Amino acid sequence: MTGDNVLAVIFNSTSNDFDSVTPQVWGPAGRALIDALRLQPGERVLDVCSGTGASAIPAAHAVGPTGHVDAIDIADDLLARARTKAAADGLTNIDVICADATALPAPESPYDALSCAFGVFFLPDMDNAVRGLLDQIPGGRIGVAVWHDGALADFSATFFEEVATLSGQPQPTAGVRSASDEPRPINRVETVPLITDWLTSLGVVEVRTQVLSLPVPCTDEFAWSMILGSGLRGALGGFSDDQREQLRRNFIQALSDKDIREVNCDTLIAVGGVP
Ligand SMILES: C[S@@+](CC[C@H](N)C(=O)[O-])C[C@H]1O[C@@H](n2cnc3c(N)ncnc32)[C@H](O)[C@@H]1O
Repeated sequence: MTGDNVLAVIFNSTSNDFDSVTPQVWGPAGRALIDALRLQPGERVLDVCSGTGASAIPAAHAVGPTGHVDAIDIADDLLARARTKAAADGLTNIDVICADATALPAPESPYDALSCAFGVFFLPDMDNAVRGLLDQIPGGRIGVAVWHDGALADFSATFFEEVATLSGQPQPTAGVRSASDEPRPINRVETVPLITDWLTSLGVVEVRTQVLSLPVPCTDEFAWSMILGSGLRGALGGFSDDQREQLRRNFIQALSDKDIREVNCDTLIAVGGVP
């Protein structure tokens, strides 16, 4: 069902590289999101867009053996890694499920909390998709992690410039495009006021938002891993292996020419209650 989804194809293709940047990026953000949700032992958590489990696994630790986490994603290959990690941690309170977060059945019993790290802006019709997810947690809490304004900006702009040069095709800027000229979903939630107002508009109350500062040294290894292990990888689709290697070299050189020594991976963490 989810295998033909273009995002599933892209994210499955990241699976060998995704966890290369987990220590610097996905991991700290996922843990900060779960800390902000203040999960209690025994709670039931729905974690969507789980990837390799950066937030789902800390959630399972937080709710303990009497609690439970359902971790949902469309990319089976990332989920396989999440399962391996959960087993390595001895977790028996997590189900890792391949499913589309926009088409979930009503839960047998409502969840206490929903977590979603770097996922909401990938959901088609973000507002309606999140409204549907809120129906899964009546009386519960929602926690969302997204890129902060300026995160990855120079980095991804440099990458797309090099993609454009190599392909001869003009490239859009980074991010998930929306139909028409509307702001991209990723830009609609990229500041404290924006994400606070957005969640409030969906009916979430008492929204608390923090900025997690995540500056990562821009080593050659990190830079290319961040391309291969994130949605940015989608831009590599039309290139041969030789072209990809050329692109890697050009990109690393361009980062050096621009004196980009640090990648801004700052993350917004927003949590709130669902009446
Ligand atoms: C940038 S990754 C984040 C993964 C993980 N939350 C983390 O922080 O490491 C975005 C994830 O969203 C998933 N995703 C995108 N659209 C989805 C959908 N409709 N339903 C479930 N997962 C989806 C992708 O497969 C991918 O694993």
